[in-house]
Amino acid sequence: MSLLAKNKVITETGEYEILLTENFSGLGLELLKIESFTKVFVITEKKIADLYYSELEKELNQVSIQPIPIFIKGKEKNKHISQTYSVYNQLIQNQVDRKSLILALGGGVVGDFAGFIAATILRGIRYVQVPTTLLACVDSSVGGKVAVNADLGKNMIGCFYQPSLVFAPLHTLKTLPKKEWKCGFAEVLKHSLLAGETFFNKLKNITRVNCRKLENLIFYITESVSLKSKIVSEDPKENGKRAILNLGHTMGHAIESYLNYKRLTHGEAVSIGLVTALILSENILGLNPELREEVIWIMKNLSIPYKIKIDSKLALEHMKYDKKNRGDSIQYVLLKALGEATYGNVVHEDEIMKAIEIQKQIK
Ligand SMILES: NC(=O)c1ccc[n+]([C@@H]2O[C@H](COP(=O)([O-])OP(=O)(O)OC[C@H]3O[C@@H](n4cnc5c(N)ncnc54)[C@H](O)[C@@H]3O)[C@@H](O)[C@H]2O)c1
Repeated sequence: MSLLAKNKVITETGEYEILLTENFSGLGLELLKIESFTKVFVITEKKIADLYYSELEKELNQVSIQPIPIFIKGKEKNKHISQTYSVYNQLIQNQVDRKSLILALGGGVVGDFAGFIAATILRGIRYVQVPTTLLACVDSSVGGKVAVNADLGKNMIGCFYQPSLVFAPLHTLKTLPKKEWKCGFAEVLKHSLLAGETFFNKLKNITRVNCRKLENLIFYITESVSLKSKIVSEDPKENGKRAILNLGHTMGHAIESYLNYKRLTHGEAVSIGLVTALILSENILGLNPELREEVIWIMKNLSIPYKIKIDSKLALEHMKYDKKNRGDSIQYVLLKALGEATYGNVVHEDEIMKAIEIQKQIK
C-alpha cells in the first residue's frame, strides 16, 4: 500500500482508521479487513466517476470485489432528502442486505449523503469514506456526522454514524478546482487555530505554490485529522467539546444562508466567519489582535476571502436560524488564545454587529 500517514478514531460504537495514501492501492485489502461483507455499493457522482471509477474498480477487482456503482447528483442543492428515494430504490433493486458495504467516493456532499443512506437503509449498514476533496480529507470524512438537507435548512436531517474506515487517496486532489482548494484550506486554518502553535506556525510560511506540495499537504491533513479524531473520540455526539470545531461557523453559516448558498463555497464563508470570531474574541475575551493580523496575512497569501459587504442586521437574522443555537441566544466559539477555544459563549447582538462593522473596515 502507498500509505503516507495513519490515524484512529475511537468512539463508543467502535474504532476506525484514517489512512492517508498516495492512491487507491491497498484499498481492496483494507476492505477485506472489515468483517465479512456481501456486496460493495459505490455511491459517487458522475464527474468523479469519470475521473476515478475505473481505477477504483480495478483495485477492488484485484481482491475479487465487483463493486456496484450508484450515481448521484453531487451539487449541494442535490444533497437533499428528495434524492435519497431513488438511491434507496437502487440499493433495494440490487438486493442490498445487512452485510452490504457502502463506499462513498467524493467530496463532502457525496460523503454526507452516502453516510446518511448507510445510516438509514436497513436500519444501518457499514460504510467507508473515500474523500476526494481537501475539505473532505481534513474534515467531513472524519467524525461520523452524516446528513441531507431539507427545503428550509442545510444538514437538517441526519445523525451521528461513524464509518468503518476512512481511506484518503491524495492523488485525486490533483484534479481539484482552485476554488475547492481554498475551501479546504479555510478548514485547515480553522484546525490550526484550535490546535495551537506547531500547526499554526507552519501555515505562516504558506504560499499558493508550496501549499500543494505533497509533504506540506500530508502535514496539514495529518494535523487536522489528528485534532479532529481526538476531539471526536472525546465527544462523538457533540454534547460538549466537539462544538469547538464550529469555530467560524456561526457567521459562516449566516453568510451561506444570506447568499442563498451561491457565490461563496462553505469554506470561503467559514474563512470570513473565522475573522468575525477573532474580532469577537478580542472584544470579549481579550485575545491578542496580532493573531488576527497573522490569520489575515495567511488568507491573503491563499486568496481566501476575509471580509464581505453584508448588512450586519441581516447577517444577524440569518444567524438566528443556525441549528447550533439554543433558543433565541446566539452561541459562539471564541478563542482565549491560539489553541485555547471556548464554546457555548452567548454573545449579545450588539457585539456581533460591532464585530461585523469592524471586519468590513479591514484593508
Ligand atoms: N460531515 C461533516 O462533518 C462535514 C464537515 C464539513 C463540511 N461538510 C459538508 O461537506 C460539503 C462540502 O464538501 P466539499 O467541500 O468536499 O464539496 P463537494 O463535495 O461539493 O465537492 C466540491 C466540488 O469538487 C468536485 N470534486 C470533488 N472531488 C474532486 C476531484 N478529486 N477532482 C475534481 N473535482 C472534484 C465536486 O464534483 C464538486 O463540484 C457540504 O455539504 C458540507 O455541509 C460536512
